[in-house]
Amino acid sequence: MAENQIIIPKELLPSDGRFGSGPSKVRPEQLAYINNHANLLGTSHRQKPIKNIVAAIQEKFKTLFALPKDYEVLLTNGGASLMWDAASYSIIQDKSSHAVYGEFSSRFAAISKKAPHLGNPVIVEAQPGTASYLETTEGVDTYCLTHNETSTGVMIDPYYVGNESSVVMVDATSGAGSVSVDPNTYDMYYFSPQKCFGAEGGIVFALCSPKMISRIESIDRYAPAILDLKTTLENSRLNQTLNTPALTTLFLVDAQLDWILENGGMDFSNKRCADSSAQLFNWAQNNPLTSPFVENEKERSLVTATINIDSSIDAEDVVATLRFNGIVDCDPYRKLGKNQIRVATFPSIDPDDISQLIKCLDFVIGELN
Ligand SMILES: Cc1ncc(COP(=O)(O)O)c(C=O)c1O
Repeated sequence: MAENQIIIPKELLPSDGRFGSGPSKVRPEQLAYINNHANLLGTSHRQKPIKNIVAAIQEKFKTLFALPKDYEVLLTNGGASLMWDAASYSIIQDKSSHAVYGEFSSRFAAISKKAPHLGNPVIVEAQPGTASYLETTEGVDTYCLTHNETSTGVMIDPYYVGNESSVVMVDATSGAGSVSVDPNTYDMYYFSPQKCFGAEGGIVFALCSPKMISRIESIDRYAPAILDLKTTLENSRLNQTLNTPALTTLFLVDAQLDWILENGGMDFSNKRCADSSAQLFNWAQNNPLTSPFVENEKERSLVTATINIDSSIDAEDVVATLRFNGIVDCDPYRKLGKNQIRVATFPSIDPDDISQLIKCLDFVIGELN
């Protein structure tokens, strides 16, 4: 029997089959927000109605992340990937240090290494499925961490490293919104909103300390206009972006922030992520044919559970069977090349749907075995 002909009994199915690690599930209430603001689609982002929404988003991020008064929320088009190139012009003075524990952290390190105007970066690389940690190093002016490596499901507690003159940047694309992080542990905590914030990609938000703002303002070298964070800073202070943003993305972010904040803020969102991820890891640990990919419990992700499948079963068949039954995007990160599945446990994903998914996994693995 071809694996994709296995029919999962209806009573086992989750109410929503979207478990992708980004783009991730968009809640119906977020779509309702778009409908309620439909008259603003096709209007200028330089006029008050949209600028007010951007200002509200900036304020709500400040509340959600408990930012000190002097921190600023920057936004610019291009996603977290753009921030890496922007950093190479507008943040890193000469030498950066990168903790690499997966695809995304490795891409940022490669950009710094290639930049002809920068010195050779320090790169501290971990074995897949584990984290590496940075130490204060002479000559390093920018330390680069990743809160949650979406590719491997390795998550760390952000920590401060360096001295008075260096800065710490944390890529929080998939981690942001899943757990409280002390703002004193970073100078920039930046993320694309297509994960915990259930929005579309294409934009990046960056929570910046005064030290990071001074660093951006102090760098005096050529930067392509779109990568010039001085321009980003000027526009963000006017609740705008340099070029045209996708208004629907802003609407989706605003709706998600309302949902999280109205229900209790970060604690609410953290409880949902922790519940869902714990269910998956407990299941994986207790099933003889599965195991959590990240062995160190302290480095296991709250938002992207990576689970090894025994070699007697092809994980691709599991993923294909799930997809055939309307449960999508449980694929592992393609370049990791492991026999595993990856399930997102962002706040929008209902922990009850994770319970159902586990029943489906038991059923599918049983059928394939
Ligand atoms: C940890 C992390 N950093 C950076 C990125 C890149 O984000 P974007 O594709 O929005 O540029 C991703 C995308 O999934 C990610 O998971």
